Amino acid sequence: MTKSISLIQFLIEAKRAERITGELSLLIEVVARACKRISVATGKGALGGVLGNAGSDNVQGEAQKKLDVISNEILLEANAWGGHLAACASEEMEDPQPIPDAYPKGHHLLLFDPLDGSSNIDVNVSVGTIFSVLRCPDGVTEATTADFLQPGTEQVAAGYVVYGPSTLLVLTFGHGVSEFTLDREIGSFILTKRDITIPADTGEFAINMSNQRHWEAPMQRYVGELLAGTEGPRGRDFNMRWVASMVADVHRIITRGGVFFYPLDAKITGKGATGKLRLMYEANPMAFIVEQAGGAATTGRERIMEIRPTGLHQRVPVFLGSKNEVEIATRYHLEADGTRG
Ligand code: AHG
Repeated sequence: MTKSISLIQFLIEAKRAERITGELSLLIEVVARACKRISVATGKGALGGVLGNAGSDNVQGEAQKKLDVISNEILLEANAWGGHLAACASEEMEDPQPIPDAYPKGHHLLLFDPLDGSSNIDVNVSVGTIFSVLRCPDGVTEATTADFLQPGTEQVAAGYVVYGPSTLLVLTFGHGVSEFTLDREIGSFILTKRDITIPADTGEFAINMSNQRHWEAPMQRYVGELLAGTEGPRGRDFNMRWVASMVADVHRIITRGGVFFYPLDAKITGKGATGKLRLMYEANPMAFIVEQAGGAATTGRERIMEIRPTGLHQRVPVFLGSKNEVEIATRYHLEADGTRG
């Protein structure tokens, strides 16, 4: 029988090999433990009284689900006292949350979307947690929003947890991507894949087609060519999937390849917004994971991880997954802008 490797063992070995510090190892362990609690809460569904709206809106004006609020509280509470963080920031809170004075402070900043895909909670479809880890700038004792506004290239770790038929943790420290499956009987995340690679080519794309009429011309061109199939310029048929939980869509891409798009559209720009998905705790961590797996991640115009953030809740268009498709879609946008010949 092959010996299974738990997340704890994996972290200890990464620390021994000097790929991560002891503080980062503790941080990941704490986040994983919090996500086990979120997994239990989501798994109870109607029996736990956790479905439905919380009756409040978050900072982005979106109706919060009870599980959004519960998941946010679980992550905040778990991360308050370990001495591994300087502050946390969340989709559900306008400003960063400092570590209470009663507890020691660490050298990292944690950002998270506590429950991504919340429109899927009440219909029993996969949801997830996404997180990104940055270093707190040297000399900062009270981290503020400005300390969080670092480009994605500065991330020291990123991951997501999918609460689906299985609960899975996918993790990177910038040395490849590993997947852990929660063994519910023993309560441990067990390594189930390492060195995950996204194939450069794919025949599968993910996009919300209901927005098609609002897209920019280069997006219309790109998806139009995919839909034309064997009779079109691409000379092959493409399949489409859309879960509407980014975590689940990205996990499919991590598993068998594919591309995910949430492009800019007239509905979004009409509201004065710059995208649908949030840069700091959705696009950046997913871009880090996808790039570490050999894929690409752009806004259609620039590499996501090179964006200099201007706000904690900044939104960006997201194109990510199999490298060659992301490159074609990005090239069409740059050509349309006249920034590429
Ligand atoms: P939220 O974090 O508010 O649940 O947003 C979900 C995101 C993302 O997970 C998903 O890909 C996308 O929104 C779905 O958007 P549409 O509902 O427009 O398809």
